[in-house]
Amino acid sequence: MSKKYNVIVLGSGGRESALVWSISKSPLLGKLYTIPGNPGTGKLSINIDADIRDFKKISSLAVELSADIVVAGPEEPLVNGIGDLFREDPGLKDILFVGPGRKGAQLEGSKQWAKEFMKRHDIPTAEYRSFGVGEEDNAVDYLNLLQPPYVLKADGLAAGKGVVILSDPDEAASEVRAMLHGKFGSASSRVVIEQFLTGTELSVFVLTDGDSYMVLPEAKDYKRVNDGDSGPNTGGMGAVSPVPFAGAAFMEKVEKRIIMPTVGGLRSEGIPYRGFIFFGLINCKGEPYVIEYNVRMGDPETEAVLPRIKSDLLSHLIAAAEGRLANEQIEITKATSVTGVATSGGYPGNYQKGFVIEGLDSLEDAIVFHSGTKVSDDGRIITSGGRVLAVTVLGTGLEDAAGRLYKSLSLINYDNIYYRRDLGKDLVKYL
Ligand code: AMP
Ligand code: GLY
Repeated sequence: MSKKYNVIVLGSGGRESALVWSISKSPLLGKLYTIPGNPGTGKLSINIDADIRDFKKISSLAVELSADIVVAGPEEPLVNGIGDLFREDPGLKDILFVGPGRKGAQLEGSKQWAKEFMKRHDIPTAEYRSFGVGEEDNAVDYLNLLQPPYVLKADGLAAGKGVVILSDPDEAASEVRAMLHGKFGSASSRVVIEQFLTGTELSVFVLTDGDSYMVLPEAKDYKRVNDGDSGPNTGGMGAVSPVPFAGAAFMEKVEKRIIMPTVGGLRSEGIPYRGFIFFGLINCKGEPYVIEYNVRMGDPETEAVLPRIKSDLLSHLIAAAEGRLANEQIEITKATSVTGVATSGGYPGNYQKGFVIEGLDSLEDAIVFHSGTKVSDDGRIITSGGRVLAVTVLGTGLEDAAGRLYKSLSLINYDNIYYRRDLGKDLVKYL
């Protein structure tokens, strides 16, 4: 009998729900745990309530649960070095870990470091300069050399809020001063100012062991709360995979100019990297540029991407963590997936929660990933966050998948449910 692997997934959102869903189907799986998880992961794995920022607790749980492999969902523990702990602590060395150490996680943890890395390896990205506390006047001088809109980025992690794009030069000048004066705490004690790039964004994901890499299905996410990409930014309102404007010729450029020099650059700098790299890209007239790196999968892209992977994700994760990814083959379905995020009306501003969710059992066509849900005292699933559920449908093409997604979403009911009605519509012109 082949070895079975006990797996721990760290995190509690839609992304982790999708990771758990994929891993739960693996013939290699022993026991599956999610820390802390949510009611959706609770159906496919055993949820364990612990704080993933508490590395001592996480490592002792990994030992107690006889984990064979730990998969990190979000970036924060990676940026804070959980990967190094698992790889260096003698008591944990038999447990595989998916996710980079602190050095590799700088790709996401420091925008300045990522920009310098791209410069060193000739990876296409926007022109930039970075400024520290005390350099406010120099920063404003640099802004004056640029054309609007102005892109200002806090160097460190700022819970997804650290990028500010402004059209007015005076507003941009006061924003950069506010950032350097601690608007985002220590995350904005350095600020990257960069050229604004015009084009269409997409998300490309690889799994790497530091030598080989595997390109996962690409996706486009929908960040604005309202149809037509209007209204405030959110954590993500939906995603589509594949991306019709990312054809073979474009993806070849992405691989040659961006993926290979990134993986090769990490290796040549002696930075071991076993985990996911998320390339936030923009297509400027057919040429790919890097907007940002993330050291994790995207949310809600993961919910659209993983259902298209037909091969065994757990097998790929084990191979990446063991440094033998070259032997693995990914198999991807040609079907199109569309993910719609059902939110609490009012999000990303104020919203009410605690509403009973109905209709989940009547969905035949869709995969439902939980995000902001919890179980009420009387055992019902209720809303508990802004982004409540990510619902994915696979179809034979974009219009088929989107049509069936909206049928499924119409069967889900809770007070103040809100979702975008136009997911994928902007992509039809590329078909
Ligand atoms: P990030 O937090 O780095 O994902 O940035 C948030 C969003 O800001 C990105 O998804 C883009 O939509 C936008 N953005 C960031 N940098 C640029 C840039 N140089 N040009 C145009 N848009 C950008
Ligand atoms: N969907 C973008 C992200 O996960 O950062």
